[in-house]
This record gives sequence, structure tokens and C-alpha cells, in this order.
Amino acid sequence: MQTAPPGPKSKSFGLDFLNQFKIDPLGTSTRLRDDFGDIVLLKFGPADWVMCNHPDAVKEIFVTNWRKFGKTDRFKQLIGSVDGQGLVVSEGDLWRKQRRIIQPSFSHELIIKEHAASIVRETTQHISNWKPGTILNLHDEMTAITLKIAARIFFDVDATSEAKDLADSVSTLSRILYQEFSELVPLPDWLPFPSKIEKRKAIATLDKFIYGVIEKHKKDPELHTVVSMLLNARDTEGDGSGMSEVQVRDEAITLFNAGHDTTATALAWSFYLILRDDQICEKVNAEIDAACRNNKPNVGCLPLVPLTVQCIKEAMRMYAPVWMIPRQCNENVEFFGYHLKKGTQLNVSPYVIQRDPRFFENPDQFLPDRFSAENEKSIYPNAFFPFGAGPRSCIGREFSMMEMPLIVATISQQFRLDLEADSKNIGMNPLVSLEPKEPIHFRVKAKH
Ligand code: HEM
Repeated sequence: MQTAPPGPKSKSFGLDFLNQFKIDPLGTSTRLRDDFGDIVLLKFGPADWVMCNHPDAVKEIFVTNWRKFGKTDRFKQLIGSVDGQGLVVSEGDLWRKQRRIIQPSFSHELIIKEHAASIVRETTQHISNWKPGTILNLHDEMTAITLKIAARIFFDVDATSEAKDLADSVSTLSRILYQEFSELVPLPDWLPFPSKIEKRKAIATLDKFIYGVIEKHKKDPELHTVVSMLLNARDTEGDGSGMSEVQVRDEAITLFNAGHDTTATALAWSFYLILRDDQICEKVNAEIDAACRNNKPNVGCLPLVPLTVQCIKEAMRMYAPVWMIPRQCNENVEFFGYHLKKGTQLNVSPYVIQRDPRFFENPDQFLPDRFSAENEKSIYPNAFFPFGAGPRSCIGREFSMMEMPLIVATISQQFRLDLEADSKNIGMNPLVSLEPKEPIHFRVKAKH
């Protein structure tokens, strides 16, 4: 047994690599894979980071031995400062109970029954403001649409009026959390620094909003939203108990935060890639026209738009919205022939693995055919994992795999979009999710 995985030597206790990571995390992670292989050790002073670059490591960490690899202390501290003990952060018995009682709210039947029509309605309402000839920013538009959908489905509010404060505080917190993740030493939230004051204010706004929503739901049992599901959920497989109000607050904020940014970036990249390829774009539009026959899209159309779904999957392969998933060893472990000590941080990048030429030929090319029913079967197990893997994988996966094609279809039924000349070569900005680096401008055109 070798004791330590291979990795670069640092003359400055790893500060040089930390700096490279800050400047270019995607390029640095890819180069480390190319130079040192599937398991790479980076030392930052006393801390060990191991980059895991093979789908078998994905299986080991997230599926086979997931209990040995927990969420990192840093992640729990920073995300927990906003999401409390919500599903993304909690562990052990609390997580197990919460996952068990929340999971049915995202079952296939409920999503279709409760949410599909709202997705189409909110999208239609948003794009009714688009005028042929105008130039818009794709990522901004997708963010606005997914925010409206989430505000309606989760809280039964209008994102442009009632939930304006919510939208503002969510984007403030996302910016501050990103800054805090890249700080060398985390600072406590009570400090009187401007960013800490801004953070506390944004959390207070979020709390006021969400507790107001909870009150409204308690008074009106007829409401059918994610909050009403959380308030009514009971642990029927366990002791039959429900959730405290604080836990409902934590879960509602968690689901809202985890859901809308990721979906907005996945959609922005999907449209960008489809619009860059005239042939695919024409086929996608034709497929949607044939499936919906000039009616409003509905879930019945989805099985009839396989190419649209393939394009979305291929976009998430190339531009994994969650580009890095960290874990930490809960105990000393033997890992692919190496000994890793308790506390070692493991970093698994869907971006790096999903662009690895060993698993995806010509990985930088947009080839939606990789996800045809036939070809998808031969993808190396766990090489495509935009929603994570194993028991802690995304609870909103089915929801977003319905939401995204419905949004694409609703837009395609109303308009044609053209990428502007300045938007055909867009870089990546790896923030909390993998955002476009420059604005993606498109021109709205009438459909006929
Ligand atoms: C394209 C859209 C989405 C992507 C790419 C995505 C990606 C992910 C990934 C990679 C994880 C695993 C994180 C980890 O293992 O540490 C995750 C977990 C999670 N996601 Fe998503 N997600 C998306 C949409 C959503 C939506 C719409 C919701 C809510 C409605 C949601 C709620 C969650 C929650 C609550 C977890 C934590 C689950 C647990 O730990 O039990 N996500 N997501």
C-alpha cells in the first residue's frame, strides 16, 4: 500500500496552488489530472486535498462508501449560515428523516399534477414581455424565469412584486458566500465588517419573507405549494412526526437556493449550444412544433421531444452547473491503494470527469447524440453525474428534467432566438454554479 497519492510539490506550503485555483479552478483541475492521474494530492500547509478524477472514485465516494465521506466542515459552516439545517447541509439521523419525508413531494406524479402547468404559465407570462427585434441577455432571462417559477411553486408569490426582496437577498447571499468560500480563513458572521453586515441583513430579509409565507400557508390550507407540502409532511415510516417551523424555514430556503441558480445556468448553456448549431436548432424547433402542434406545451409533449432533452443533458455534460462536489473523510480510509487520513478533503469535479476524453470522445464538442436512448447505455458508469450520485444526489433531478424542456418548448412555441455575433464564443465563470463569463446576447424574432 502506498501512503500518499502523487501530486505537485510546492515551495510555498501550497499557496502557489491555492492561488492557481483561485485564478483558474477548471484549468488547474484539468492540468492536475493530465499531469498526475486519477487521484492527486495537494498539500496546503497541514491540510490535504485529494482531487478524484475517475468515475470509479465517484462510485466509491458517493455510492458504495458514502457514509465514510461527509460534507466538509467549511461547506457546512458557510452554507449552514444561510440554509441552517436544510437538506443540503444536514447529516446523520436528521438528514435521513428529512430526505425520507421530503422525497415524496418531488415524486413524478406530484410534479406533474402540481407543477407542470405553473412552469408553462410563468414562462409564458415572462416572455409575453419579449418584443421581436430586441436584444436580451440569455442568462438573465433564464434566471428571471426560473426565479418566477420557484417563487410561484414554492411560495405562491409573484417574484417581480411580492418576492422582489427575496430575489435581491438570494443574489446578495450567493455573491457573499462565493467570496467567503475563497477566503483562506473563514471569519465569524458577527464581525462588524461591511460584507458581514450585508449578509446579516440579507438573512434577516429572507427570514422575514419565509416566516410570512409560512403564516399565510397556516391560514390558508387550500394552498398547494412546496411550503404547504413541508408543513403537512409526516414521517410515516418513522415516528410520524412533522417538522418544526424553523426546519420548514431551513428546508424551504435550501430547496429554493439549490434549485433555481443551477437550473438557470443549465438552461442558459443549453440555449447557447443549441443556437450556435443551425442544424440542431432547426431540428429542435421542428421536434417541438410537431410535439405541441401550436398548443401550449404540457408534460404529454415531453416524450415527443427526445432531441431537446438530449441537448440539455449534453449541455450539462459540457457545462456542469455544479462543477465541483467536495467531501471530507469522516475516518481514516483506504482509497484506491492509498491511505487517507480523517479530515482529508476530496474534490470531485463533474466538469473534469465529464470532459475527460477517456469517457467522452471529442469532449469539447456539442454532440447531443451521445444521449440517444441507444448511446446513453454505453456511457461509462458514473462518468455523467450532473446531479451527483448515490443517496445524497439531487432531490430536484426529476423536477428540473421536466422544468427545463418545458421552458425550452414554451419559448420555441412563441419565438425564434438568434445569437448575436458577440456571443458565439463565451467563456466560463466558475462561481457557486458554472456561469457564463460574458453576457450571452440573443435577438428575439417572431416565429413566422
Ligand atoms: C439543473 C439543475 C440542478 C442541478 C445540476 C443540481 C445538482 C445537484 C447536485 C450535483 C447535488 C449533489 C450535491 C452533493 O452531493 O453534495 C444536488 C443536491 C441537491 N439538490 Fe440539486 N440540482 C439541480 C436542481 C435542483 C432543484 C430544482 C432542486 C429543488 C427543487 C434541488 C435541490 C437539491 C437538494 C435539496 C440537494 C441535496 C440533497 C441531499 O443531500 O439529500 N436541485 N443537486
